[in-house]
Amino acid sequence: MPDSAPHIDLVDPELYSRGDPFSQWAWLRANDPVHWHRPGDLPGFWSLTRYEDIRTAYRDAETFSSAQGILLRPAEHGADPGGGRTLALTDAPRHKQLRGLVDGWFAVRSVRALEAEMASIAEGVVEAALERGSCDFVADVAARIPLYVICRMMGVPESDWERLYDLTSQAFAAGDPLARRFAHLDILGYFETLQADKARNPGDDLVSVLATAVVDGERLSPDDVILNCDNLLVGGTENTRIAAAGGMLALLEHPDQWSAVRGDPALLPSAVEEVLRWTSTATHIMRTAVKPARIHDRQIEAGDKVVFWLPSANRDETVFDAPDVFDVRRSPNRHLSLGFGEHFCLGSMLARVELRLLYGELVKRGVRIELDGEPKLLDSIVVNGPELLPVRLKAS
Ligand code: HEM
Repeated sequence: MPDSAPHIDLVDPELYSRGDPFSQWAWLRANDPVHWHRPGDLPGFWSLTRYEDIRTAYRDAETFSSAQGILLRPAEHGADPGGGRTLALTDAPRHKQLRGLVDGWFAVRSVRALEAEMASIAEGVVEAALERGSCDFVADVAARIPLYVICRMMGVPESDWERLYDLTSQAFAAGDPLARRFAHLDILGYFETLQADKARNPGDDLVSVLATAVVDGERLSPDDVILNCDNLLVGGTENTRIAAAGGMLALLEHPDQWSAVRGDPALLPSAVEEVLRWTSTATHIMRTAVKPARIHDRQIEAGDKVVFWLPSANRDETVFDAPDVFDVRRSPNRHLSLGFGEHFCLGSMLARVELRLLYGELVKRGVRIELDGEPKLLDSIVVNGPELLPVRLKAS
C-alpha cells in the first residue's frame, strides 16, 4: 500500500458535514478498492468504492444478502427489526413477491397518471415559499412535495398530511435521538391504525394493497404491513428531500448551470440525472455475504459485511468524464444513486418526476433564488446533503 495513505475513517458522521469524504474515496479507489474497516462502535466491514466492483456485487444478490440489514448499525442495537420482512430487507423469493404487490404503482404509466396532481402540489409549495419570501428550502419546499405525493399514494387522508409532515421532520431531524425515536414510534402507531382501517375498508391505495395482500397463501401480518408502510414513507421522502435541496444548492453554487436550465427547460431531464449523481444522497448501502466470495485479491467470508459507497462510485474517473464537474448536460450518466439490480429504487421514476416538476416550477415562474445564510449539511453516514438551506426567493 503506498506510504501516502490518508487516515481513512468513513464512519465519522462529521466527515459528511464538515470534512472531505471524496479525497478518502478517491484514494481508496486508486489504492485499496476492497478496504477492511476495523470494528469500533460499528462492526468491521469491507468498503467498496469503485463503480464496477459495486455493480458486480449488486448483481450477485445470491452472495450479498439484504435480509440482515442494508445500513451499518452498532452491534448493541441488535438486528434490524425489518430484516426478512420489508421490501428493502428481504432476499429472493420473498423480495420478488413483496415487490410484485407494489411495483405497478411506481411504473411509468402510474406515475404519468399522477403527474398533473404532483404538478399542482409542486405549484402550491413553490407559491407558498414565494409568499414567504425567505425560507428553509429543505423544510419548506424540498420536504413537502415527496411527502404529500407518497401520502396521496398510500391513502393517507389529506387532513393528516401536515401531521405526518411534522412527524417525519422530527424523525429525520438532527439533534435529540430520543425525540427522533418518539416521532418514529408515532409514525408506526399512525400506520397501525391506518392499516387496520384499510384492512376492514380497502380503498384504491398502497396501504390497502399491503393490508389485504396474500403472500404464499397467507395475509401479511399487521406488523409486516406497518414495517412496509414505514419503508415506503421513509423511502419516499428522505432521499428525495435531500436530493431536491442538494440539487438546488449545486445549481446555486454553479450559476452558469442554473442559467443554462432556466434558458432551456428541455435540459431539465438531464439536469435531474446530474442532480441525482452529484448529490448521491444515499451515502452507503450494506450487504452481508452469505457465502465466501473473492473481490480482487481479497477473500470475503460468509457473514462479512460489505459496504457500497455510492457517492464514490458516482465520481469514479474510469466511468465518468470529469466526474468532479457538475454538468447539467452530462450524457451518458449511468450513476448508481438509485442503486442497481433487484433492489433498484422502487420510487426512481417518482423521484425523477418530483425533481423535474420542482425545478420546472421554479424555471416556469422565473423565480430568482439566492442563498440567505450558511447551508448546514447533515451529520450522518447514512444520507448526505443539506439539513438546512436558507434561501430568498422572488418571482420575476
Ligand atoms: C432522490 C431520491 C431517491 C434516492 C436517491 C433513492 C435511493 C435508493 C437506493 C440507493 C435504493 C437501493 C437500496 C439497496 O440497494 O438496498 C433504493 C431502494 C428503494 N427506494 Fe429509493 N430513493 C429515492 C427515492 C425514492 C422514492 C420517491 C421512493 C418511493 C416510495 C423510494 C422507495 C424505495 C424503496 C421501497 C426501495 C427498496 C426497493 C427494494 O428493495 O426492492 N425511493 N432507493
